[in-house]
This record gives sequence, structure tokens and C-alpha cells, in this order.
Amino acid sequence: MLALPLAVLAFAASVIADPKPPPLTYLYSVNLTFAPTITIGSVPSGSRDLLPISGGAFTGPKFSGKVGSGLDWGLTDSKGIFSPDALYTLITNDNATVLVFEKGHAPNVHILFETASPKYSWLNAVVAYATGGPSDAGVSLDVWQLGS
Ligand SMILES: *[C@@H]1O[C@H](CO)[C@@H](O)[C@H](O)[C@H]1NC(C)=O
Ligand SMILES: *[C@@H]1O[C@H](CO)[C@@H](O)[C@H](O)[C@H]1NC(C)=O
Repeated sequence: MLALPLAVLAFAASVIADPKPPPLTYLYSVNLTFAPTITIGSVPSGSRDLLPISGGAFTGPKFSGKVGSGLDWGLTDSKGIFSPDALYTLITNDNATVLVFEKGHAPNVHILFETASPKYSWLNAVVAYATGGPSDAGVSLDVWQLGS
């Protein structure tokens, strides 16, 4: 006989009976600037471009600073939908380095963070939702923490 632990059953029951949307907490807005695109071209999964991230700035209620460098190796599919897939750094005003993992289907992306800074270690547990698009200087995104 299959016996699920009571805690699992209770969790499943609460998930099914009472779904609630998670809260969103505004984290920051960011402007990314880019170096010239390196075109790879048509590959089996779509059209591949390398978009080198050269800098930028971010501002939010809990932290602000500048964008370091990184790369977006996004794909454009046959319908013209761009799926960003990026890795870059944020350098906070108090000099912590935060690695940003960004992936999605424009204009919706999710972001995960990684940092060794004790002050910003809370970011290691954050799942963020971001939306935005092309702007004058590059790409602008607004970023929210999903859940709490
Ligand atoms: C991003 O660029 C816009 C337009 O230039 C500007 O208004 C905004 O303050 C910038 N945001 C950051 C975080 O630098
Ligand atoms: C910022 O941190 C880096 C290492 O992450 C260090 O090399 C640099 O000297 C620091 N700069 C300032 C202004 O503290």
C-alpha cells in the first residue's frame, strides 16, 4: 500500500482547495546596454544571435548600482518571438557582485540570482519575474520578486 506522509497530503489538499496568486514585490528597474550583435544565424532551434551586454544601470528600493558585463544568447523562433537567455552581473553601489540568470519568452522573463555577498544572500532564494523590451539605449526591464 502506498502511504503518503500526512504533511504531504495536507499540503496537497491546501494547494488544491485554496489556490491564491503569489504576492509580487518590486525589486528594481534596469537598463542594459549592448555591444554590437554577433550573428550566428539559422540553427536547428531558430535564429541565434549573441548580444554582448556591455553595461547599464539599475535602481530599486533595496539596492541600486550598475550593470557589469554579460551575454544574451537568445533565440528568435520562426514566428519572430525572441527568447532571451542571458547571464550578466549587477554591481551594487556598495560593491557587491550579483550574477543574474535570465530566461524567457519576450516580453516575459524569469530571473534567478547568485551572489557570495552576505548582505545580499537573500537574493539567492529569490525567483523574479521581469518584463520590458527595447528602449533608446538598449533594453529596459522592470523586475519583481515572486512570492515572499
Ligand atoms: C533607464 O533609462 C531611462 C530612459 O533613459 C531613464 O529614464 C531611467 O532613469 C533609466 N533607469 C535606470 C535604472 O538607469
Ligand atoms: C569592489 O570589489 C572588488 C572585488 O569584488 C574589488 O576588487 C574592488 O577593489 C572593490 N572596489 C571597491 C571600490 O571597494
